[in-house]
Amino acid sequence: MKNIFAKGTEHFVQPKQWESMRKAKALEAKLGTKIVHFEKGDYAGNDFTLPGHIIEATVAAVREGDVRYDPGPGIPPLREAIAKEMAKRGRETSVDEVIVSAGAKHGLFMTLLTLLNPGDEVIFPNPGYPPDEVWIRYCGAVPVYAPLKPPTFQFDLDALESVITPKTKLLIINSPQRPNGQLVKDLDRLAEICLKHDLLVISDEIFSNIVYDGEKHETIAAIPEMKDRTIVIDTFSKTYTMTGFRMGWVVAPVHIAEKLSVFLQDSITNVSVPIQLGGLAALTGPQEVFEGMRSRLKVKRDRMVAGLNEMGLKTLLPPGSFYAFPDITSTGMTSSQFTEYLMNEFGVAVVSGTAFGSQGEGYVRMTFAVPDEEIDEGLARMAKAVARLK
Ligand SMILES: Cc1ncc(COP(=O)(O)O)c(C=O)c1O
Repeated sequence: MKNIFAKGTEHFVQPKQWESMRKAKALEAKLGTKIVHFEKGDYAGNDFTLPGHIIEATVAAVREGDVRYDPGPGIPPLREAIAKEMAKRGRETSVDEVIVSAGAKHGLFMTLLTLLNPGDEVIFPNPGYPPDEVWIRYCGAVPVYAPLKPPTFQFDLDALESVITPKTKLLIINSPQRPNGQLVKDLDRLAEICLKHDLLVISDEIFSNIVYDGEKHETIAAIPEMKDRTIVIDTFSKTYTMTGFRMGWVVAPVHIAEKLSVFLQDSITNVSVPIQLGGLAALTGPQEVFEGMRSRLKVKRDRMVAGLNEMGLKTLLPPGSFYAFPDITSTGMTSSQFTEYLMNEFGVAVVSGTAFGSQGEGYVRMTFAVPDEEIDEGLARMAKAVARLK
């Protein structure tokens, strides 16, 4: 049998950003060695257990038989709560502009497939979020990389403008950024560029609530002229430690939201209702528990960043997200060499910066949403690894 696969899937490979996770699992299974896990984009350990009121709301829905199809873009009270959350960010939102998706990733997937035609160009931050690129290519569209300038990984606005062509349709912004936790600055100037060149924007704001030191997350969608050309994507995964619930949202102008609603209904029908009710409890219930988690995350961030700098790996304090992004060039290795070396010889799993694009060279990504003992053990192992290279 020849050519059984659709052309759009020719570039499919196992996700690059999870390569370390796959290898760490295999090593643990094969050798039984304890790997320190800094590679996951997730919470680990007892500092981040799911609050009881979310569990109760979800379980009660199952118990009470709220377990049927509910085709549509989301249950009304949840869409209302999301609209209010968006208004707090300065983007007034009506309920019919809200779509509840199966995670931010699903929101990104639906949005890209809804907007892109073959040959369209999409300006994509480098480093950026690899699944976006997978779906851009699936559509036959072209990712055009806008280099983010280390160490603060901001857009070089002149470089960005220079890659815009008449085929450019969309700009992807990701703030607070991954893999480095920086807040995207110059939103006004970015908006000017989008208006001048008639670009749409996807604003991926999955770490909107994981911001430290009094810094504030800002959305380009709050700029009045941008409201109708920006699609905001967010998630319950990071703010509410609900990664396994697989639920997020898209906020878009009504004419785009209507298309997305059809896309959603014709693909997954709806996000499971008990899961949506868990999300509603998260958004509308007590918030102190999440504030506590954020305070713990900040302490962990400071602990990890201090340890990395002490061993000679220059690391900025990230103003957002739960990732440290140390500069590893002093080791004399490339990002992927250092990642392999740490994993194979010291049992520490990190992600090579290049998993997110060529501009990630010279860096690795490390998650600090893990137990303190894990941070200490991992840093002790890394200090030995770095010392051995000197
Ligand atoms: C930039 C970015 N967008 C989207 C997602 C997907 O989030 P979700 O868990 O809601 O699918 C992630 C996950 O880490 C991410 O880093």
